[in-house]
Amino acid sequence: MTDPDHAVREAVAALRAGQLIGLPTETVYGLAADARNPQAVARIFAAKGRPADHPLIVHLASADQLDDWARDIPEAARRLAAAFWPGPLTLILKRQPGVPDAVTGGQDTVGLRVPAHPVAQAVLSAFGGGLAAPSANRFGRISPTTAAHVREELGDAVAVVLDGGGCEVGIESTIVDLSRGVPVMLRPGRVSVSELSRVLGEAVLTPDAPDATTPRVSGALASHYAPTTPVRLLDAAALPAAAAAAAQAGQRIGVLSRTLMDDAPAHGSVWLQLPNDPVSYAHRLYRDLRRLDQCGASLLLIEAPPQSAEWRAVNDRLQRAAADREGLPKP
Ligand code: TXA
Ligand code: MG
Repeated sequence: MTDPDHAVREAVAALRAGQLIGLPTETVYGLAADARNPQAVARIFAAKGRPADHPLIVHLASADQLDDWARDIPEAARRLAAAFWPGPLTLILKRQPGVPDAVTGGQDTVGLRVPAHPVAQAVLSAFGGGLAAPSANRFGRISPTTAAHVREELGDAVAVVLDGGGCEVGIESTIVDLSRGVPVMLRPGRVSVSELSRVLGEAVLTPDAPDATTPRVSGALASHYAPTTPVRLLDAAALPAAAAAAAQAGQRIGVLSRTLMDDAPAHGSVWLQLPNDPVSYAHRLYRDLRRLDQCGASLLLIEAPPQSAEWRAVNDRLQRAAADREGLPKP
């Protein structure tokens, strides 16, 4: 067994040498580099196959470092940081002039987050500075929630992959833009709009709200977090018939349901059942999508969750998984 302190020291040495590491966080695994080193940050884009103008989140050990990266920090940011950090929330703020363009995609803002995972905390504390880290998947693909997924996605492009076990949250952080006066939620996650609004004492706009504008967020592309296999979202009632039709057409299918299905699974298909509460569902979603994507099916059928606020983050990821994949690189 590797000594965890040794693994952290090795990771920090790699970061100081400008290399990439696989970093466990409570949301998903990150592909991390020294955020002050533009050459190291460039390696992230190369490894992921990500367009260079998509900005990265800078991860910090604590909110005390906010002022090193952001300027004109509004009171709202301090409040959200106090309430949710360390944790699965990213704040978009006006950047300090010294933050490399490679990190911000040349924008005047920077995304900042203090992750809660103990391994991420250990690395950030030992490293001292900020770590630029997108999810450790190839561009447009499913985010990794285990160390093995990171190796699967990125192979030798990563010098060290720290194993922090399965990610607790399982989907990416909530992103709130505080750089433009009114708070706007750019990506839903475990921290909900109502929790944000309660802490701020004001409404938080959402991207589908009429006056919210959407800046560059790769997670906001219609198709994202997508398996290679085509995905169809459908109601529980429609699932058995769709599965039967696919089987009759000789298609091997993968199914992700919440409802227990009485009908026997079609021959050769793989059925996975996820829990019927949004937090446990999110925790397991990417792992199960990845499994289904690798089961040799030509179609994935997913039972659509309810359209209620508590399912918002999960529905967001499922809709992107099911969206047309035009414009994304072929896997
Ligand atoms: O949970 C997470 O946030 C994970 C873990 C590793 O921390 N990271 C993550 O990073 O999901 P990534 O790069 O896959 O998604 C970050 C999103 C992107 O959609 C990016 O465009 C957006 O954050 N973003 C970063 N900086 C931004 C900025 N200055 N303005 C607007 N969007 C920004
Ligand atoms: Mg990502």
